[in-house]
Amino acid sequence: MVRGLFAAAVLLLKNSREKRSRALFAGLAPLFLLVLALGSCRYDTAFPEPDTKALLNLPPGFESPDFPEDNALTQERWELGKRLFYEPALSVDSSISCASCHAQNLAFSDGRAVSLGVADAPGTRNAPTLTNVAYHPYFMREGGVTTLEMQVGVPIQEHAEFNFNFVLLAERLSQDESYQQQSRQAYNRKIDPFVISRAIATFERTLISGRSAYDRFLQGENSALDAAALHGKDLFFSERTSCSSCHAGFDLTAYAFENNGLYTDYADPGRARLTGLESDRALFKVPTLRNIAVTAPYMHDGSLPNLEAVVAHYRSGGQAHPNKSALIRPLDLTDQEAADLLAFLQTLTDHEFLADPKFQPE
Ligand code: HEC
Ligand code: HEC
Repeated sequence: MVRGLFAAAVLLLKNSREKRSRALFAGLAPLFLLVLALGSCRYDTAFPEPDTKALLNLPPGFESPDFPEDNALTQERWELGKRLFYEPALSVDSSISCASCHAQNLAFSDGRAVSLGVADAPGTRNAPTLTNVAYHPYFMREGGVTTLEMQVGVPIQEHAEFNFNFVLLAERLSQDESYQQQSRQAYNRKIDPFVISRAIATFERTLISGRSAYDRFLQGENSALDAAALHGKDLFFSERTSCSSCHAGFDLTAYAFENNGLYTDYADPGRARLTGLESDRALFKVPTLRNIAVTAPYMHDGSLPNLEAVVAHYRSGGQAHPNKSALIRPLDLTDQEAADLLAFLQTLTDHEFLADPKFQPE
């Protein structure tokens, strides 16, 4: 259940704190170096080259995301990244690709409670949408990975995902002359973990979505929301529900870590898995609500099957948990108000994004 890179980091921390086994440290050192190599990138705010505007296709009012200094957006990098995103050879038995769990028509999620990796091995968490990941300050539900480049290493090594190895993967792809050629064009070097992680991250940074009915309403198209959705929007942004206190800003999340009272006792430690702090137990990154109508089932473990169940959960105030946010408490909503809230959530779907041919495999 513990994810590869993250587990290594935690073990390293624990190990150095307790000054225990040097052998263990030596065993993990290559992985640690790989993490450093993959993660050494600084961000700059320069707007990408003009010829990449079509790739970004920024919705009205959206700022360009930052691209790392060593991984600026280019057409060649993006094309290689897209090819790799749909490449089953990334998995040990060449059976599944990133897109198996992050499918475009589901806003790059997979419709399952928990994902299935190679040989149908079940994971422990629900695959989140990749909508607007370019703007996230950290990744995974506990926030344990800080860049998209580093994140690529997780599914490659995770047993319940690709169950493979970055070095062997690079060797496998090196056999294919067309990959070598694309790698030289994109990064001026042979295909290796550096290239694979950067190209995929480049593709992911263009998964930008902001053309829902709600966005059109914000841009001044008053008829984009009907009466029910308008009323639901007012409820969403009201102190009566506090939804927008956590699901705040243009991406409908401020990316904070919160507990929303699903259980009194969680199987998944949430952010405590990273920090070891009791005060972080069962806190999860607040998800975006963009394209929420197509990313069922919901929550870190996919335990709520539909949006009706989500609204019912918040209405009830959820279960008592020591770390539950004070904002999660029984809501005094009529059935009509609950239905209107749901109608608003359904206006957050960006149909252009879900069908954009640009994101489809060649
Ligand atoms: C077997 C299913 C599966 C495959 C294959 C898979 N993922 Fe995921 N992905 C998940 C799950 C489950 C999570 C949530 C993991 C967590 O929080 O611990 C996730 C999380 C992510 C995140 C973090 C999103 C966020 O909001 O923090 C990114 C980015 C991502 N995956 C990209 C990829 C890429 C790129 C690939 C291919 C290299 C890939 N995934 C392959 C299931 C999968
Ligand atoms: C205290 C902060 C907080 C408040 C207030 C809050 N949420 Fe959430 N919301 C979260 C967190 C944290 C999660 C993810 C929990 C998990 O992964 O188990 C979440 C998950 C969701 C999801 C599922 C997202 C997904 O991709 O699985 C929906 C839908 C949602 N919230 C809607 C709402 C609505 C509607 C309201 C108001 C009635 C609301 N939230 C109020 C923190 C909050």
